[in-house]
Amino acid sequence: MEFCSSFLLGFVVVALINWNGSNALSSNYYEQTCPMVESMVTNAVKKAMLNDRTVPAALLRMHFHDCFIRGCDGSVLLNSTATNQAEKDGPANISLHAFYVIDNAKKVLEAMCPGTVSCADIVALAARDAVHLSGGPSWVVPKGRKDGRFSIASETRQLPAPTFNISQLQQSFSQRGLSMDDLVALSGGHTLGFAHCSSFQNRIHNFATTQDVDPSMHQSFAASLRRVCPMHNKVNNAGANLDSTPTTFDNRYYKLLLEGKSIFSSDQALVTNPTTKTLVAKFADSRQEFEKAFVESMIKMSSISGGGQEVRLNCRVAN
Ligand code: HEM
Repeated sequence: MEFCSSFLLGFVVVALINWNGSNALSSNYYEQTCPMVESMVTNAVKKAMLNDRTVPAALLRMHFHDCFIRGCDGSVLLNSTATNQAEKDGPANISLHAFYVIDNAKKVLEAMCPGTVSCADIVALAARDAVHLSGGPSWVVPKGRKDGRFSIASETRQLPAPTFNISQLQQSFSQRGLSMDDLVALSGGHTLGFAHCSSFQNRIHNFATTQDVDPSMHQSFAASLRRVCPMHNKVNNAGANLDSTPTTFDNRYYKLLLEGKSIFSSDQALVTNPTTKTLVAKFADSRQEFEKAFVESMIKMSSISGGGQEVRLNCRVAN
């Protein structure tokens, strides 16, 4: 009996170690098996950026959306099938794009080191490169993620919405092991890219029964957004840049946020709480402090573990 229980205990301990071990990421994961992985991904991102300046923003957002649903397991890359609508076709992901950049990197890597580099790792590396090649910081990306086999459109409802207030944002982030500090730093991702009218419509039309426009918005800024996005907007790709330097990774987003010139309610929410507001002010003041915090939080977000089991051969299809 005693033997039996200590055997069982031993088994549980080993299982736990293995479980942790198999989930642990490491910076030199491909050192022996695919030493060129990082430069191949960087090349693919560089090449795509030359033709399309919106690529870095798309890659950064792609990684965030991947990690927030089922952990960073490449589930965002899977295509819908006859019987399943995948995440990328969920409402929150309709405007995700630049998936071809991941495909291009994967093609080169499959030729070089077949069946070795996961799609989820490629997304994490591409997001890092997107930031760095836009003038932001670089960092060492822990690697060794596995690709998942499932992607379900309805699960994208678990992504934070641009209409969220600070407690909804806090809840969404804490469910994934991320703090309020991470929330403020990672929202700085909105230094890059663009938003469609529908994403900030709530702030500029029918905001409340007595106010058409969100009063926390800078007046002439709100007026300019209303001109681009009228109440019954019919232009599909009308919208606004997330800050005034949308292809440069800088701390402008935080400076504008303090002036009431942020795009989403979820951005504005960061100055409604004294603790997060202090951080916003710190990042507005110091690009260096922002970059340091951003890197730390990106590594945390990019380590949210998923239930991935395989290295996909084609990033759009489970093996
Ligand atoms: C805090 C909660 C967040 C909310 C509610 C949110 C919401 C949104 C929305 C609604 C858009 C515009 C979609 C569109 O209209 O096409 C957007 C764009 C973007 N988001 Fe966020 N986001 C959040 C956090 C993040 C994080 C953590 C990152 C990355 C670290 C990020 C990076 C981006 C980027 C780069 C874009 C521009 C995409 C492009 O131009 O293609 N966001 N976000």
